[in-house]
Amino acid sequence: MPMVTVNGVEVEVDRGTSILQAAAQAGFAVPHFCYHPALSSPANCRMCLVEVEGARKLLPGCYNEVNDGMIVHTESERVHHARKAVLEFILVNHPVDCPICDKAGECKLQDYYFAYDAQESRMRAEKQHKVKAYPIGPKIVYDGERCILCTRCIRFCEEITGTSELTLIDRGDKTEVRTFPGMELDNDYSLCTVDVCPVGALTSRDFRFKCRVWLLTSTESVCTGCEMGCNVHLDHFRNEVQRYRPRYNPEVNDYWMCDEGRLTYTSIHEDRFLQPMSNGAEVTWHAIGQTVADKLGRVIDAHGASSIALVLSPQASCEDLYLAKLFHESALAGEANLYVNGHAPGKEDELLMRADKNPNRRGIEAVWAGMETIGSFDNLVADLDNNTIKAVYMMGTELPVADEAREAFIKHIEELELFVLQAMHTGGELLEHAHIALPACSHAEKEGTFVNVEGLAQAFNQAFAPHGDSMPDWQIFMRIARKMGHTLSFTFLHQIQEKMFEATVLKQEAEEKARQEAEEKARQEAEAKAEAERLAAEEAAAAEAKAQADEASDEDASSADDAAEEESGDGEADEQPPAE
Ligand code: SF4
Ligand code: SF4
Ligand code: FES
Repeated sequence: MPMVTVNGVEVEVDRGTSILQAAAQAGFAVPHFCYHPALSSPANCRMCLVEVEGARKLLPGCYNEVNDGMIVHTESERVHHARKAVLEFILVNHPVDCPICDKAGECKLQDYYFAYDAQESRMRAEKQHKVKAYPIGPKIVYDGERCILCTRCIRFCEEITGTSELTLIDRGDKTEVRTFPGMELDNDYSLCTVDVCPVGALTSRDFRFKCRVWLLTSTESVCTGCEMGCNVHLDHFRNEVQRYRPRYNPEVNDYWMCDEGRLTYTSIHEDRFLQPMSNGAEVTWHAIGQTVADKLGRVIDAHGASSIALVLSPQASCEDLYLAKLFHESALAGEANLYVNGHAPGKEDELLMRADKNPNRRGIEAVWAGMETIGSFDNLVADLDNNTIKAVYMMGTELPVADEAREAFIKHIEELELFVLQAMHTGGELLEHAHIALPACSHAEKEGTFVNVEGLAQAFNQAFAPHGDSMPDWQIFMRIARKMGHTLSFTFLHQIQEKMFEATVLKQEAEEKARQEAEEKARQEAEAKAEAERLAAEEAAAAEAKAQADEASDEDASSADDAAEEESGDGEADEQPPAE
């Protein structure tokens, strides 16, 4: 592997590594605009010029690969002078409208100007004017004057989505980004172009003029838009989520996320109910806990716990589901029927989007050790039709049905003796028909774990305190179980995780042991079978050999008789003793 010296620091890198990447490995950041680690390198901005000993000119570090023994300087006077000149060139026609630009605070041009240029413009002529606030797609606005023509957005649409909507038009200082005729920037990942744009030339309509970025606090979280579980930065201000941005994770989403998932953050604040309710009236948690316990107790006394349906939500975290399991085993005597609801399937593709629009169906499988005991939403409707269910305790308001099927479900709910809704959203009529409504908080208001489609458990963090009187589902289950005389004592999330992990580890160990035993049994059976077959084959061979020997001796005897007969016939043959 090549050894490179960057600013006096020796580093060994893989063959094919660019100078920019080698410098990063040696601990030196090289400024860049057009380079993006997930895209090809056109080397068109020249911001990454570095000095290589033996080379006459400065070289773009993003494009040139290292050689063994290469000596690189990224902070020499020559390099700094080049950076300053490149910035001055890029800023010749730039409007420098940072005070009203959404990118201000996270703009690379701004940062590099302060780091390497920091001089007044020498431009005295009128600047070249281009389009401002140009609607390049339904979710994105383009500002031609801020664009530094790095082509990252164009390469994203060519190399990542393969949709190729964008190109450069015109020449020289009139060059701008545009869509091809008849197209608009409207692919399922179009908002990633805003992320890759190093300046404020592409801005999201959703986020434009909403919040200055330096006011945002960023929390590491996970998208709940589908079972892919893309990693996100959840940016919030004053207890309100302002946007999602993709968080790099090569195991899951790389640098990207889909537009649909990116905009799901709005559901954190829409359609919420924030106070416990009993028959439509707001009450306290103290009062409602006993009411739920009494009402569930009456249904159990009258019809047994098997007349209750506990509906699990694939939107809930593993910790919530684990407490739902303990609640089922204790307060509902392990007899209540289990079902699962959740969003209906939607669009999927080969990049990230998955058809299951729920983040934690695999979490239900993990916590409940499979789905064998859990009925589908259709099963629930069928059991309601058969009148075997008297009470429904439902997590979440996401139903995988619409229109008539939804109305039919609502009709069933109206006829129930008890409908307890433990959810974040009102779900429209669902809240209206709930005898008891328990406000759960969103994933932004708590910590937890989702298991994605690949079986990867991913933690999400709490961004701010629960809104209103809402609380995490796991705390609600604990509270109701306690009122029903069952103590589920967890104070902190990590205690649940330890128990859950213990259960999972024990289960995995038991499964591993059973697997090894089954393998051993199968091996022994196979060996016994092979031995039996070998013996049978030997016996058959012995029998065949004997049969052949008998046949041969019969043939010898008969030819001896023939010879004797012949000899006695012509008087020439010797007399032979008879064959034994
Ligand atoms: S719009 Fe942004 S990403 Fe696209 S070429 Fe211009 S500066 Fe680069
Ligand atoms: S692919 Fe799924 S998890 Fe990823 S951003 Fe889109 S909706 Fe969210
Ligand atoms: S980052 Fe190297 S030329 Fe643009």
